[in-house]
Amino acid sequence: MDVFSAIRQRSSVRAYKATDVEEDKLKKILEAARLSPSASNRQEWKFIVVKKKETKKKLAKAAFGQSFIGEAPIVIVACATESKSIMACGQPAYTVDVSIACAFMILQAYELGLGTCWIGSFKEDETKKILDVPEHIRVVAMTPVGYPNEPPSEKSRKSLNQIVCYEKYE
Ligand SMILES: Cc1cc2nc3c(=O)[nH]c(=O)nc-3n(C[C@H](O)[C@H](O)[C@H](O)COP(=O)(O)O)c2cc1C
Repeated sequence: MDVFSAIRQRSSVRAYKATDVEEDKLKKILEAARLSPSASNRQEWKFIVVKKKETKKKLAKAAFGQSFIGEAPIVIVACATESKSIMACGQPAYTVDVSIACAFMILQAYELGLGTCWIGSFKEDETKKILDVPEHIRVVAMTPVGYPNEPPSEKSRKSLNQIVCYEKYE
């Protein structure tokens, strides 16, 4: 599968089969994160792989009861191990870096036939408690990973001419 096909066809998955995810597939998804670019190549990230049912259920609760998170065989929780660096452009490096790694994981998962759903709606403090995440570490995102148990959803996107301009901001 070429990259553009994955980008075009992927959609968020909110229902998962109980089928386990093969270890080699999980490894490949994590490799996609490992190989992602980061500001100054700092790689200040840690990815927590959660498979225990009880823990996944707690994560779902911390994510305001999004129960499908607890039903997926795996949840990957993406953390930033440093969160003070501000890039010259004014943006914090950690949200950008960890988000790129998550995007790469999500696309890699799709190529392997696996569904994901970026989860940004969760209580960080509660998530950190559940996973023993130290105080100074930030949790940026999480995603369930598993075989989809629902058809792909229709893409609804703005048109290119709504979001692109040339030479100057219009
Ligand atoms: C930063 C971010 C946070 C998101 N948080 C959630 C979430 O907490 N729960 C959820 O079901 N979907 C969440 N999503 C998924 C979006 O709703 C979804 O990507 C968007 O509607 C486009 O649909 P698609 O992913 O199927 O193309 C999030 C996506 C992003 C990028």
